[in-house]
Amino acid sequence: MKKSYTFIANWKMYFDFNESMNYATKNLDSIISLADLSNASIILCPSFPMLYPLTQIFRQTKVQIGAQNCSDHTKGPFTGQVCAKTLNQMGCKSCIIGHSEIRRYKSETDEMISKKFEMLLDDGISPILCIGESELDYKNGKTLEVINEQLKRVIEIVSYSAKKFNGLPIYIAYEPEWCIGSGKTPSNDKLETIFAWINAQTQKHHSISNWQFLYGGSVDVENAVRIGQISYINGFLIGKMSTNFELFEKIVKSTILGNNN
Ligand code: 13P
Repeated sequence: MKKSYTFIANWKMYFDFNESMNYATKNLDSIISLADLSNASIILCPSFPMLYPLTQIFRQTKVQIGAQNCSDHTKGPFTGQVCAKTLNQMGCKSCIIGHSEIRRYKSETDEMISKKFEMLLDDGISPILCIGESELDYKNGKTLEVINEQLKRVIEIVSYSAKKFNGLPIYIAYEPEWCIGSGKTPSNDKLETIFAWINAQTQKHHSISNWQFLYGGSVDVENAVRIGQISYINGFLIGKMSTNFELFEKIVKSTILGNNN
């Protein structure tokens, strides 16, 4: 059976409001066509202010809009935060949590991330949980130890409440910190081992949960086909390359074709 892939464009803060709108309107038909491909799902993740206009532009299409973060609270005196319910009301279908740039710059902990994970699921939004080790941990052979720590709480949450999620996709994005924006990617052998391990951890809940495993970190036109063929990888979380639509489109098409000619 042909593999299906999800391509998530994490625009980070590369675009201001006007640039996001220009990207969406200039490439509107092509983005919609990509999302219409039978084995590709497309999720665009802009900054908060662009979420609502983009959900409106792409309503009644298969293009989904996701957020880059959410609050670990439901309501109250939390200046500057956005709750999962608001994301749902704006038409967002998914939300990135635990990105290493937020873990590092905003001191986000696994406990806060697991609260966000549960709140998103309660509001019918797919979490896109980022996990990954630092370069030092990688060099010390601690990858599985680190990602086990990052994964274990969410696996517990799914184990006691999977039934209520009703098949909602749960994305786990393995994004080694040392690969983000560096041009480096792990070898195929390493990725095979890591994704087989991630799959095994979630296996118990496969029948009731729709786990999707993504790779992120310096994904480009050159490496997407190679990485996309690794067992259990169902897609990519793409930063910089997703801000150039021609390159993003090439990544999508070459991955699903299995070659970049
Ligand atoms: P790059 O694709 O720019 O390396 O970023 C990866 C990332 O952080 C996506 O969330």
